Amino acid sequence: MTKRIGLLTSGGDSPGINAAIRGLGKASHSDFNIEIIGFQDGFSGMADDMHIKLEGDAFSGILTNGGTILGTNRDQPEKMLVNGQIVDRTQDILNVYKKHKLDGLVVFGGSQAQSSAHYLQQQGLKVITLPVTIDNDIPFADSSVGFDTAIGVAAEAIDRLHSTAISHHRIIIVEMMGRDTGWLTLAAGIAGGADVVLIPEIPYQVNKVAAAVLERAKAGKRFSLIAVSEGAISQENVRFFDSARKANERIRTGEDVQEVAQFLNTIEKRSAGDTNHLANQLEQATQLETRVTILGYLQRGGTPSASDRVLATQLGTACAAMINANKFGVMVASQSGIIVPAPLEDVAGNIKYVPKDHAWIHGARLVGVSLGD
Ligand code: F6P
Repeated sequence: MTKRIGLLTSGGDSPGINAAIRGLGKASHSDFNIEIIGFQDGFSGMADDMHIKLEGDAFSGILTNGGTILGTNRDQPEKMLVNGQIVDRTQDILNVYKKHKLDGLVVFGGSQAQSSAHYLQQQGLKVITLPVTIDNDIPFADSSVGFDTAIGVAAEAIDRLHSTAISHHRIIIVEMMGRDTGWLTLAAGIAGGADVVLIPEIPYQVNKVAAAVLERAKAGKRFSLIAVSEGAISQENVRFFDSARKANERIRTGEDVQEVAQFLNTIEKRSAGDTNHLANQLEQATQLETRVTILGYLQRGGTPSASDRVLATQLGTACAAMINANKFGVMVASQSGIIVPAPLEDVAGNIKYVPKDHAWIHGARLVGVSLGD
């Protein structure tokens, strides 16, 4: 019997999404009798029923293309910004699902997309997801689609920045993506031979970073490469916000406490990743010229690496097989080389942080990398 599923991509794009769409599409058509309706531009596109039928040629020639052929955004079903107002469009999505007589909805995306997919599952839809983000912060997945490519881009940037840092005897700070987790910065930092790696999970001390740089200078290495996550934060700021939170709980009551606590969390997030401020502090402390390079969206663009293409193909095809077997309510993930279904309810709302005792951290320390702590 033919099945019909919807497919959308949500959240930040990442290299390899199209390879996963291709894997899902080709396996669905040739091995299983599954039709695919692609919704454009994430959950808002689905709410507006912006769709295309994905068949045959739609899956050809896209393996190596970056981005997503479906388009994406960060809209969430229950709180979408429409004409300046936050609107709940859950019912529109449920109606579109019914209208197309879908047997399931496939969502490719990062941590927020996983939560939205789980939310729709709770509203009665049959949902299945793939972990797709350069941040690699999704639990139960060893690696998410796009992570390997982003590591390659960021490591190459560090390689290239080395020669100019050496020539000018400078500190060069390279800021990488990763709001909450430091997977990308840590991996690229190790691969690129960064001297200092600063990640959100390990708050840093500016004087420790300066000491690492000065020690290198003493040993005749008058340059340093520092890889920093956009979400890295200093111990000083962590202490400041902790005491502000305690003071808030002491002096306020009721709803005010919640409101101010939320406000403090927001400012704390904004105070993280102040790379220019860190550069000024280091220049003062070391008297070495310091420059900043922000890699930003470069890390998300372009053709996927060979590893990401393999992962995307495995996950996409396994997803088709699970749909064929009526397996929904799961995220399709690779764990130790095996493709497994992870319950969406366990994935949603959770972040995979870098454990402080992770082997990559040990390895980095053993080759003399400073983590700023
Ligand atoms: O998709 C994850 C990510 O690339 C984060 O690393 C980064 O903080 C964020 O997206 C940027 O989001 P946006 O594309 O909405 O600016």
